[in-house]
Amino acid sequence: MKILIVNGPNLNRLGSREPGIYGHTTMEECVAALRARFPEVELEYYQSNVEGFLIDRLQVAEGCVDGVVLNAGAYTHTSVALHDAIRSLSVPVVEVHISNVHGREEFRHRSLIAAACRGVIAGFGMDSYRLGVEALISLCKEEK
Ligand code: DQA
Repeated sequence: MKILIVNGPNLNRLGSREPGIYGHTTMEECVAALRARFPEVELEYYQSNVEGFLIDRLQVAEGCVDGVVLNAGAYTHTSVALHDAIRSLSVPVVEVHISNVHGREEFRHRSLIAAACRGVIAGFGMDSYRLGVEALISLCKEEK
């Protein structure tokens, strides 16, 4: 099974970015821990601060991976283009957030991508990524 984790803007700064909200773990540490925990899953990781590059990466994923864990960062709240890109895919996409976006500023309460995703996980710190991967593993097993 192949899973792609995609991170949007500013998530390259995890570990040092607002640690009170996002913690001290870097994404490299998180991906290494996930690879160790799920040796049966081939995990790919991609990050970009550029909306169009995220869309390009999602489009290329079609047919090549079994599912996508997507933390679109701030584009979650603004991007119709990402919504459309996700809708165009047949592979399941799980929206994840490290923080509980619903307990934060009002502009973070709305997700423009949630309706296009299979489900949403938010508020479990870096563990949100693990939960996203587990959701996709379950979906994949159900389909077999
Ligand atoms: C985030 C929440 C977003 O509102 C924010 O813009 C991010 C990170 C999260 O993982 O909690 O960049 O997606």
